[in-house]
Amino acid sequence: MRPQIGIIGAGFIGRFHARGVHGLIRLGLADADYVAVCDHVPERAESFARIAGIGWHTTDPDELIASPTIDTIYICTPTAEHKPLALKAAAAGKHIFCEKPLARNLADAQEMYDAVRSAGVRHQVGLILRHSPIFTVLKELISDPSLGRLMTALLRDDQFFPIQGHYISDWRKDIAVTGGGTLIEHSIHDLDLLAWLAGDIESLRAETRNFAGHEGVEDLASVSLRFANGGAGQLVSIWHNVLDRPSGRLLELFFENGYFTVQDDFFGTIRYQTGATPEAVEVPEDEVRRRYLEIVGLESDVFDSALSKYSLADYFFLRALAEERDPFPGFDVGLHAHELVDAVYRSAAEGGEEITTDFRAT
Ligand SMILES: NC(=O)c1ccc[n+]([C@@H]2O[C@H](COP(=O)([O-])OP(=O)(O)OC[C@H]3O[C@@H](n4cnc5c(N)ncnc54)[C@H](O)[C@@H]3O)[C@@H](O)[C@H]2O)c1
Repeated sequence: MRPQIGIIGAGFIGRFHARGVHGLIRLGLADADYVAVCDHVPERAESFARIAGIGWHTTDPDELIASPTIDTIYICTPTAEHKPLALKAAAAGKHIFCEKPLARNLADAQEMYDAVRSAGVRHQVGLILRHSPIFTVLKELISDPSLGRLMTALLRDDQFFPIQGHYISDWRKDIAVTGGGTLIEHSIHDLDLLAWLAGDIESLRAETRNFAGHEGVEDLASVSLRFANGGAGQLVSIWHNVLDRPSGRLLELFFENGYFTVQDDFFGTIRYQTGATPEAVEVPEDEVRRRYLEIVGLESDVFDSALSKYSLADYFFLRALAEERDPFPGFDVGLHAHELVDAVYRSAAEGGEEITTDFRAT
């Protein structure tokens, strides 16, 4: 098929996807058409349409969803709007790219997954770290059996409270829109990443704190994870007020016979030391790029033109649709991430009780 795309939500993340879609089509890297854009704020929809040179912009998402011209919908609105839009789009037979988190809670995410499955439409969730070059290469490096078992994974994720700085909106301080704070809004990526890299998660304990004082919107979450392979891990997720500090992730993995660390979440250098390589080794960014291209089978011109983390996700989504395949990561992966988020919030609500997750990594 040749996807006919409508984007709903012309804000912060909508801009990256609009650029990604427009750029990939212009470069001949996506066999698709960017047809229409919608935002409740008319000037935003209008300016997106002008930049992409498309004639159709609207403030009414139902117009896009009901249109027989459009077969593929991007949902880039604040979280509370994802479910109603996704249910309507699925019922109308549209393929869906929905930003993460899928929803404000696990039950809604489950309903969305059930809806796309029963409608038989294709779906992808915006868990973009699944297409991160640095983590893809890291995942391959740590698949070496001589490393032994993973003993621990330590992940610190911090960013400034995203209701200021370059964020154009302040809905992230409102629990009714978000379903929580830094954990669901940002670290849903991290829980998914840890499960992807470290495997099945048997149980977890968590604490959350609220320094900024926005009701129900935690700005610190500390999670202890028990992996099925016997290892234990820790995730710390923080929203602070250091506006000049870029959003960052620091990951350390200790195996019986190896240590790996990265300080970037997309490009950057991987550092490691193993029993077989007593000297510390650096895999510089260029080499990470080269290995990533080899692993996913992309030509360098594709990669260089898809430099944004979001446009790689767009590239794989549109390519899967064009090839009539299921895109990855689908709503099933999004739902699994929500199961972990839900377990964290339940543990925190119960004073750090251990919650058995039964989680199986996808
Ligand atoms: N994958 C990632 O790394 C990533 C990064 C940032 C944001 N996000 C997610 O993307 C979503 C949007 O976040 P954002 O920062 O772009 O928000 P934003 O506030 O910048 O933009 C949202 C836009 O949607 C519009 N809107 C709201 N409801 C609408 C509706 N029903 N119909 C049409 N337009 C509507 C708003 O007017 C606004 O312009 C959130 O779920 C967020 O968690 C994901």
